[in-house]
Amino acid sequence: MTPHNDSAPAHQHGHGHQHGDLDWEAMAAHLENSGELHLPVLGPTAARLSELLGPDRRARRVLDIGSGPGVMTSVLAETFADAEVVAVDGAPALLEHTRGRAERLGVGARVGVRHAELPEGLDDGLGTADLIWSSKAVHHVGDQQGVLDALARLLNPGGLLAVAEGGLPPRFLPRDIGTGRPGLQARLDAAQEHWFEIMRAELPGSTTVVEDWPAMLRRAGLTRVHSFTFLLDLPAPLGGPARTFLHAQLTRLREMMGESLDADDVKTLDLLLDSDAPDGILHRPDAFLLSATTVHTGVRPA
Ligand SMILES: C[S@@+](CC[C@H](N)C(=O)[O-])C[C@H]1O[C@@H](n2cnc3c(N)ncnc32)[C@H](O)[C@@H]1O
Repeated sequence: MTPHNDSAPAHQHGHGHQHGDLDWEAMAAHLENSGELHLPVLGPTAARLSELLGPDRRARRVLDIGSGPGVMTSVLAETFADAEVVAVDGAPALLEHTRGRAERLGVGARVGVRHAELPEGLDDGLGTADLIWSSKAVHHVGDQQGVLDALARLLNPGGLLAVAEGGLPPRFLPRDIGTGRPGLQARLDAAQEHWFEIMRAELPGSTTVVEDWPAMLRRAGLTRVHSFTFLLDLPAPLGGPARTFLHAQLTRLREMMGESLDADDVKTLDLLLDSDAPDGILHRPDAFLLSATTVHTGVRPA
């Protein structure tokens, strides 16, 4: 989890790991688990998008840009019951997950998938939409403002662009866990901020921009710009899927950030990752999951 509240460890990047090295497809099960854990947030988010579109406007075509395994794609299809929803992603195997999930949930007839690499793919016949959703994908493209500009151009007049970016770093452990130095999560956040910066700098066409998402949406020509945040609040004791999610997150943190952490913190991570240890993340009674997802929206003037 980055401080940018990416939901999967695949989004963490180390020195020398360029964007193209990220193996999103290997993350399919983890991304889907993460998405499913966030369903209590995704449903209300889609309902809020429907409100923001307005009662007089029916979404006929919806794009999910950087759709991952398509958990939100199906939520969008369920919420916008008349709409064709197209999942767009650079990872073909994740698009297959999206298709399979939509079939299982009974919305397959209205869910399409499209393989496209951003940003080039945005100018390549994606077609227009009444609603464009993009969660935690824009920050994986060098020119974030350029992507928002391109997405805004794909909107029909009166259409809504919604990007889930920013938010808060998730919390899942108390400050003092009885092992190692208190404040592990804050130090992991700091290490991840550093890595995020390197990841952004290594992206092709990397451009720095003040990450003021509402201002960026306005610069893309959108109006009625708005932000809202939903909280995922899974208190202790956690169930199995949330523990599996955290174990995968911490595994990735250990792999990607071991060198940035001091020996004491690495030891603590190893304890948390020990599947047999009562104090490991799979068993400890104090683990929880608190995660804030912020969505920024804007409307293309009619
Ligand atoms: C962090 S995941 C987010 C998945 C999903 N939207 C979510 O919120 O759970 C980022 C997704 O964006 C896709 N992605 C990242 N960079 C991309 C690019 N340049 N072009 C196309 N897809 C990209 C990845 O394949 C992955 O599915």
